[in-house]
Amino acid sequence: MKIGSLALANPVITAPMAGITDKAFREILKSMGSGMVSAEMVSDKALTYGNRNTLELLDIQGEAYPLCVQIFGSEPDVMAEAAVIVAEIGAHVIDINMGCPAPKIVRNREGSALMRHPILAGEIIQSVVQAVQVPVTVKMRKGWDESSVNALEIAQIAEKMGAAAVTVHGRTRDQFYSGQADWSIIRRVKQAVAIPVIGNGDIWSAEDGLRMMEATGCDGVMIARGMLGNPWLVQNTVAMLKDGGETAAPDLEVRMALARAHLARVVELKGEVQGIKQMRKHLAWYIRGIRDASRIRTEINRITRQADLDRLLLSLV
Ligand SMILES: Cc1cc2nc3c(=O)[nH]c(=O)nc-3n(C[C@H](O)[C@H](O)[C@H](O)COP(=O)(O)O)c2cc1C
Repeated sequence: MKIGSLALANPVITAPMAGITDKAFREILKSMGSGMVSAEMVSDKALTYGNRNTLELLDIQGEAYPLCVQIFGSEPDVMAEAAVIVAEIGAHVIDINMGCPAPKIVRNREGSALMRHPILAGEIIQSVVQAVQVPVTVKMRKGWDESSVNALEIAQIAEKMGAAAVTVHGRTRDQFYSGQADWSIIRRVKQAVAIPVIGNGDIWSAEDGLRMMEATGCDGVMIARGMLGNPWLVQNTVAMLKDGGETAAPDLEVRMALARAHLARVVELKGEVQGIKQMRKHLAWYIRGIRDASRIRTEINRITRQADLDRLLLSLV
């Protein structure tokens, strides 16, 4: 699929996930063949004020692969300014967040709250598109709640304002991350616009990816929670969409080897204290399903040295 002039090697896109898709995890997702990797959402205001933590979040140096950086905000001018900064840093695609359900975000009319303000949403998209040369995309939900489902309207506005693609997460803001994603809204959006549509929500297996493509006619699929502790899902979905191929599930040795490499890279990038804090949730995901997982998780949460964590992971094989 193409996003503007950018041709992706495959239509399997990995989602932006705050606190999760940092540089180390993005490198892993790319190594699994992700057609486009997304960074964590960053605030327009924090970017324009040069906030140090935000600039750290945006450490995309050396990431030559198709990389999407997502920004959130509610003011067209500030969003445009933020987009210019993100483009200068080297993002290949800029995504506008219209899906985040968090109260502290929607309170400021940011994230999914923009779906309740279609005119403002359109102004933001137009302002960002006009400010940068790179393709601009919009990630939205089905709507705010079941009584105000308007993904079609927002997608049509996005298309009119020059967006290169839209991603549709088949849940309302009201649902947060619970319940089943409604893929029929993805199909209806696909029928309503000519720009590429990326489907999102509940891809837990490679088969789900294929089923979503078939059921909705979407141009690409976006994987989110399914890849936590299981980045192989990306590789499997790429293979499944290419030729229906099945890939064997990684055995424990392979999983632990990746967990250790992930840990080492995070510590290299963030230091031991921050790195270990960041890795605890990932390690809990990597060990999911193994015997005694809950006891091991407690142990992981007590360990403060990389060497000790590494030893523990090795001992599980
Ligand atoms: C911990 C977490 C962080 C997320 N961060 C972002 C984000 O920064 N930007 C965004 O657009 N969506 C974010 N999402 C939403 C996902 O990108 C995705 O739309 C959602 O999880 C639905 O897909 P899934 O059912 O496959 O998980 C986040 C989701 C989770 C669970």
